[in-house]
Amino acid sequence: MAAGATPGRDPGAGQRILCVGLVCLDIISTVETFPREDSDTRCVSQRWQRGGNASNSCTVLALLGAPCAFMGSLAPGHAADFIVADFQRRGVDMTHVAWQPRGDVPCACCIVSADTGSRTIVLHDTNLPDVTAQDFERVDLSQYKWIHWEARNAAEQAAMMQRVERHNRSRPAGQRIRTSVEVEKPREELLPLMGRGDVVFISKDLAQHFGYRSAPEALRGLQGRVQPGATLICAWAEEGADAVGPNGELVHSDAFPPETLVDTLGAGDTFNAAVILALSEGKSLQDALTFGCQIAGRKCGVQGFDGIV
Ligand code: ADP
Ligand code: FRU
Repeated sequence: MAAGATPGRDPGAGQRILCVGLVCLDIISTVETFPREDSDTRCVSQRWQRGGNASNSCTVLALLGAPCAFMGSLAPGHAADFIVADFQRRGVDMTHVAWQPRGDVPCACCIVSADTGSRTIVLHDTNLPDVTAQDFERVDLSQYKWIHWEARNAAEQAAMMQRVERHNRSRPAGQRIRTSVEVEKPREELLPLMGRGDVVFISKDLAQHFGYRSAPEALRGLQGRVQPGATLICAWAEEGADAVGPNGELVHSDAFPPETLVDTLGAGDTFNAAVILALSEGKSLQDALTFGCQIAGRKCGVQGFDGIV
C-alpha cells in the first residue's frame, strides 16, 4: 500500500490522483470459447461491472491504496445507481462527477473468452455529454498531485490541461501537478492531445493503426508528437511495455503472464494506474513500467479487479 494512503481517509492537500474520462456499465459474459456469429450459446457466467478506462484506473488506484477521484459524466437511473454504489465500495471520490440532465449512461456488452482470455467489447456511447472545461474549472487543483485524462472530447480536454499548465507556472517545481493522457482510440481528433501532458500512454491499437508492428517501433515513430521532456509509453499485451523517457532513454519491461490467463478486460487501465502511481511516488521509469506490467499481469489472472493486490 502507498505510504499514507488509506482508502476512505481524507488525504493531505495535493495527495490525490484524479482520472478524467469514461465510466460505463460493463455487462460481461464469460464464455468457454468465443461464439460463432449468429449462433445461440450459453455463457459460463455473467456479471455487471463498473467499466470505462478512467473509472477502471480509479478502481486499481484505490486497490493499490492511493487516494483518488473520478471525473466523468453520469445520468440518473439504474445504471448510475449501480456505478455510484461501486465507486463508494472502492472508496473512489465522486465529487467531480458531472450529472447530466439528458443522455444514457454508456453500456458495453463484453465477451471474455475463457480459452484465450480475450475480451471483445461492443460499447454504446452516443448521447451522454462529456465533462467540459467549464466543469473542470470547479476542480480545486490544490487537492491533486497528478491528473490523468483518457482522451475523449479532445478540445475541451486540451483546455482543461491548459488550466493545469497555468496553475503549474505559478507554483514552485515541487508543488506542480503532474499530468498524463491516454490516447487509445485511433481517432484523428484525439492525436493533438499527444502534444500535452508529462506522460503520454498510447495503445497497441493506435500504434497498429499507424502501421507499427511493435512498441519500440511505435515509440520511434511517434516520439516527435510529444512535447520535449515528456515520456511516451506503449503497452503491447503479452509483450509487456516500452517507454521513451524525458531524456530519450528507452525502457522496456516484459509482461508477467499469470499462470492461467483469465480475463484481460481492463488490463491496459490497470497498467496505466500502476505506472501513474509509481511515477507519482518518484519511482524511476523502469521501476514504474515493471510495476505496471506486474499489476496488469495479475489482473489478467483474475476475473475483474479483486485479487490484483
Ligand atoms: P489493453 O487492455 O488496453 O488492450 P494491453 O493489452 O496492451 O492493454 O495490456 C496492457 C498490459 O497488460 C501489458 O503491458 C501487459 O503488461 C499486460 N497484459 C495484457 N495482456 C497480457 C497477457 N496476455 N499476458 C500477460 N500480460 C498481459
Ligand atoms: C476496458 C474498458 C471497459 C469498457 C471499454 C470502453 O478498457 O474501459 O471497461 O467497456 O473499455 O472502451
